Amino acid sequence: MQKLYHSSGMIFISINDLSVWVKKGSTVIQACQIAGAKIPRFCYHDKLFVAGNCRMCLVEISNSPKPQASCALPFLPNLRIFTNSALVRKAQEFVMELILLHHPLDCPVCDQGGECELQEQSFNYGSDRGRFFFFKNSLGDTFWGGLIKTVLRRCILCTRCVRYTHQIGGSDAVGTSNRGGHSEIGMFKESALKSETSGGVIELCPVSWCYS
Ligand code: FES
Repeated sequence: MQKLYHSSGMIFISINDLSVWVKKGSTVIQACQIAGAKIPRFCYHDKLFVAGNCRMCLVEISNSPKPQASCALPFLPNLRIFTNSALVRKAQEFVMELILLHHPLDCPVCDQGGECELQEQSFNYGSDRGRFFFFKNSLGDTFWGGLIKTVLRRCILCTRCVRYTHQIGGSDAVGTSNRGGHSEIGMFKESALKSETSGGVIELCPVSWCYS
């Protein structure tokens, strides 16, 4: 692998054995974007803080025994990244299986069917049969004001809405409560989301659990 530094703060790195220049300090997911290597993601968004909680963006790194979340990994010299290895594929299929554990299989009647990031990725990484048989979490619908209705049983807890509301809307009204399999997104106070930018969460949501 070639490792060269450039005076303009660029770094020469290897992704799938392809050498590209990226800005020093870029994360692996950003570098892969520049190299044209597609990485599936749910929680990552260019304009939001990194949460690293969906684990869909796993990549293989030379000399590392386990795949790593590329959105939370800064690119360092000596890293060789593989986005299309058998290990990565297997890990992403397993993550997808876990994400779909509690998600209803109602794409034919879902308003976002055909435009849903989860549906798209489940075609690529999902299986036609499940290995887990127990009841799905079933949370009720809620309203977050005049613009936003939520269908919590479709939520995959990517927390984009939480980070957007905090970072762009300047409000801490939305958050995650409980832990593990009982986690859920909600408003801390039973009131409407009043920020003038609140409608943006509808655009950000990867699974249409909130819409107007
Ligand atoms: S996109 Fe990296 S962990 Fe979700």
